[in-house]
Amino acid sequence: MSNDLRSYESILDLLPSEQSPTPIVRLGRITGFEHAKVYAKLEWYNPFGAVKDRVAASLVRDAEARGLRLETLVEPTSGNTGIGLAMISNVRGYEFAATLSKAIPEEKRAALRLFGTDLYELDDDLCPMPGAPEGAMAKAEELAAQPGWTELNQYQNAANPEAHFATTGPEIWRQTSGQVTHFVAAMGTCGTITGTGRFLKAQNPDVQVIGVHPTDGHDIPGVRSRRALALTAFFKPEEYDQILEVSDEDAYLTCSRLHTEESIIAGPSSGLALAGALRAIPDEPGVIAIVIFPDNAFKYVSAFRRHLPDLFPPEDGLALAPVDPYVQHLKAAFAIADDGPDIITVSEANHLLESGVPLIDVRNPDEYVKLRIAGTPNIPLPELSAGRTDGLPEDKSATVALICAGGVRSVYALLELKAHGYTSVKSVQGGMAAWTAARLPTEEPA
Ligand SMILES: Cc1ncc(COP(=O)(O)O)c(C=O)c1O
Repeated sequence: MSNDLRSYESILDLLPSEQSPTPIVRLGRITGFEHAKVYAKLEWYNPFGAVKDRVAASLVRDAEARGLRLETLVEPTSGNTGIGLAMISNVRGYEFAATLSKAIPEEKRAALRLFGTDLYELDDDLCPMPGAPEGAMAKAEELAAQPGWTELNQYQNAANPEAHFATTGPEIWRQTSGQVTHFVAAMGTCGTITGTGRFLKAQNPDVQVIGVHPTDGHDIPGVRSRRALALTAFFKPEEYDQILEVSDEDAYLTCSRLHTEESIIAGPSSGLALAGALRAIPDEPGVIAIVIFPDNAFKYVSAFRRHLPDLFPPEDGLALAPVDPYVQHLKAAFAIADDGPDIITVSEANHLLESGVPLIDVRNPDEYVKLRIAGTPNIPLPELSAGRTDGLPEDKSATVALICAGGVRSVYALLELKAHGYTSVKSVQGGMAAWTAARLPTEEPA
C-alpha cells in the first residue's frame, strides 16, 4: 500500500490510521472566533462514508481474533455501523443482517439494501433503545441465537471504544502535534467520545472532552438524548468535562450554515456537535478544538426536507410526501416575512433591546432556562398562539421583537401577533444561534 500514490490493494486499506488519518479542516467564518482554532474532522473520508467504519472494522477484527465461527453477522444499528459491517462482510465473505428502526431515513435503508444487507425493520427509536422488547436490540439477540449467527454488539463490545482509542485519538494527537485543547463529539453509543477522550486525556489530562446530545424526541439519526444515554454502556459522564444539549432546530440550522458558509457537506449530527462546540469552546489564544463530523449530508435529504422546509418549495418535483399544512403555513410566513422589513439582524435586535423595546423569547422553557438574553421574557410559541399576552405591550402599535433558537418559530410568532393586531413586530434572523455566534451577551442559569 502506498499512501502517497493513494493506490491500494483492498478497499479495507482505506480505513484510517495514525499514519493515514481522516482530514481535519479549519472552520473559518462560522465560528466568529478571533483566537480559538476549530477544526472539523471529516469522517466521511472513511471507506464506507462514516465514523462507524472504524468501529465496524474493529468489531469484525475482534470477532475474528476470538476465533468465532463467523457465517452470518447481525447488528442492531442506526445505519452507519450497518453500512460499514455490510461492506466489510462483503470483503470477508460473511452474510450480514441489520435490525433497525423504521424511522431510520429511507436513504440509509436503501444503502443497506444496495450493499447486500438483510433488513429487519422494527418499531424503535432512531438509535436502538436498550430494553425495548420488540426493538432492534431484542431482535438481533433473538436472531443471534441461531447456529452460525453472531451478534457483534457495538453497544456492549469494548472493540467499539477501542477502535477510537487506537485510531481517532492518535490521529488527532498527531494532526495537532499534541496541541489539541478541546475535543467535541456527538453521542450515540459513546464509542467515539469515550475511546478518543481516553486516548487524548492519557496524553494530556488537561484536554477538555465535550459531549453533545439532542433533546428527547429528536430527529437526528445516530445520536441519543440524555434519557437514552443513561442506558448506554459506554456513556461515561465522569470522564467528560462538559455535556451539552442542542435542539434539532439549532443542529439543522448549523448544518445548513456549514453547507453554505464553509462548503462542508456535513450531516445533521455534525451540525449538532458543532452547535454544542460553539457554546462550549472559549475564544482564547492557544485553543485548538477538534469536532468530529460523523458523516455527510447525502443520506439525510428526507430529514433536511422536514427541518429546512424553506429550501424545498412545494413545486419541487422530488417531493416525496404530501406537504404538511403547518409547513405550508410556515412557507407562506417566510415568503411574506423574508421580503419585508420585519426580519432584523441580531445587532439590530440588540440596539432595540437597549432602547427599551421588548424582546420576547418564544422558545420552549427547557431551552430558555439553559441560555437566554438578560431582560427577555419567555412566552413559548404554543402559549403565544393560544393567546397569552402578558409581557407584550398593551399598545398594539408599539414595536415588539421576537427571538427563538434559529429564526423559524419567531417568524411564525410574528405572523400570529400580526394576526392579532400588532402592527410593528420584528423577528430576529438566525435566532439565538446567530446571537451567540455574534458573541452578544447572554445569561446562563444561576
Ligand atoms: C451519524 C452519526 N453521528 C453520530 C454517531 C455517534 O457516534 P458514537 O456511537 O460513537 O457515539 C453515530 C453513531 O452511529 C452516527 O451514525
